[in-house]
Amino acid sequence: MKAVAEAPSKAIITGEHFVVHGAWALAASLPRRVRVEMKSAPAFRVTSDKFGGVPGQLHPVSRVVESMAREFAVNPKVGVSIASDVPGGAGLGSSAATMVAIAAAFSRLYSLGLRVDEIVRCAMVGEERIHGKPSGIDPAASAHGGVILFRTGSPPKKLSFDGTRSLILSYSGMNRKTKGQIGHVSKMKEKYPGMFSSLAQGIGELSLDASERLKTDDMKGLGTLLTLNHSALMSLGVSNSTLDDMVDLLLSMGSYGAKLTGAGGGGSVLAVAPEGKEKSIVSGLTARGFETFTVSIPTEGVKSWLER
Ligand code: PMV
Repeated sequence: MKAVAEAPSKAIITGEHFVVHGAWALAASLPRRVRVEMKSAPAFRVTSDKFGGVPGQLHPVSRVVESMAREFAVNPKVGVSIASDVPGGAGLGSSAATMVAIAAAFSRLYSLGLRVDEIVRCAMVGEERIHGKPSGIDPAASAHGGVILFRTGSPPKKLSFDGTRSLILSYSGMNRKTKGQIGHVSKMKEKYPGMFSSLAQGIGELSLDASERLKTDDMKGLGTLLTLNHSALMSLGVSNSTLDDMVDLLLSMGSYGAKLTGAGGGGSVLAVAPEGKEKSIVSGLTARGFETFTVSIPTEGVKSWLER
């Protein structure tokens, strides 16, 4: 018998970086997923369609398995295979989706019956190994699915709305490391504490406002908030000229608003646009060499089951 788990990727709608320092942020799960298969084995081993069996890249996976085996007093000797259609380093939460799927598969394999919040807690062990001091928003968005309003230390609030809201995502093609970007922002906080705390307070309020706009389908209002949020991220120094150009392009083509999403320094840009314009915007960005697509937000988070 093997356990299978699938976890969605994510996009941060507003509030990245500031969320690490206690502000509210808004995040959505995305349809691209990570799939994990796990079964008992003579020794722990892990393979991935992206990294093969390279131990360094896959170390965080063994961290999650070892810490869960210790906590729940079960055998850590499992064979794990990971398949993913989430691009790594694109700011779409590939590592978080992997850690969440690992924790969910482990829980299923040993019938631990863990709740979603417990799966997030177990997945955080791997996330901390990769990112240093993450806020926890990525695994929470992946595990819960849909759209969540998140602040470290409080249970995430899942937004409910009718119908589908669609987002445009465009990948810059530049990979970057979240850990370095988080470190840069912490230095800015140390250097400019007054400015940083005002910005963090403002962006926290912006995220609360953005969640209301999303609920009431005010995509135009949401767009304005996205572009405002991008300016705050630029002023922190986590954007770059490629991301700024992509935002300008998205705005000039008729988007309601656009911003970098995730840690910045590369990765992806997120936009919202009038329904009739989405197609031409996607073609325009694609023609300039940026992999671009629209997504509607799936409501389902991580799921797991047993298979023969
Ligand atoms: O790794 P990314 O690109 O998904 O970014 C994570 C979001 C940050 O706010 C930068 C870090 C965090 O842990 O919240």
